[in-house]
Amino acid sequence: MQYEVSTDRSRFDVDLIHTFLRSSYWAANMPRDILDRAIRHALCFGVFSGQTQVAFARVITDYATFAYLADLFVVPEHRGRGVSKLLLRSILDHPELQGLRRFLLATKDAHGLYAQFGFKPLANPDDFMTIHHPDVYKKESRA
Ligand SMILES: CC(C)(COP(=O)(O)OP(=O)(O)OC[C@H]1O[C@@H](n2cnc3c(N)ncnc32)[C@H](O)[C@@H]1OP(=O)(O)O)[C@@H](O)C(=O)NCCC(=O)NCCS
Repeated sequence: MQYEVSTDRSRFDVDLIHTFLRSSYWAANMPRDILDRAIRHALCFGVFSGQTQVAFARVITDYATFAYLADLFVVPEHRGRGVSKLLLRSILDHPELQGLRRFLLATKDAHGLYAQFGFKPLANPDDFMTIHHPDVYKKESRA
């Protein structure tokens, strides 16, 4: 199967991205308007088989020092064929993402994938702090 990676937002199948993300463990119930804004303000990558989008990822970055990799997924029918590895290679080779001091991500179970690309567990997790609202997309949180 031939796959192509693109950062051209006009090609993205936002309905597909929304359907996947709103059912994901990390962005459950994400509203469409929030996704539209999140795509608009990030460097986003799609993987395509012909015109059909089969994978997605967002890189939130200042293009100088820091990047955060988010919302990476491959649609189930195209898993196990190296699509996520093609996507990660394209992200890490992207000319505007070179020389960063830190590239961060969070994952529940795909450590083995990211480790292949040089990501390591936090050496000093106690140095990091977060404000985290996992229920932010629940109806009552948005009222
Ligand atoms: C995780 C996911 C992106 C992998 O995509 P994929 O295109 O099927 O993966 P690939 O075929 O490129 O291969 C992934 C490689 O990472 C390894 N891996 C490690 N953890 C993995 C995991 N949790 N899921 C899939 N592969 C994993 C695989 O064994 C494989 O290794 P190999 O190179 O030795 O074959 C895909 O299963 C997915 O979208 N899952 C649901 C969403 C998700 O969990 N996203 C990650 C959030 S951080």
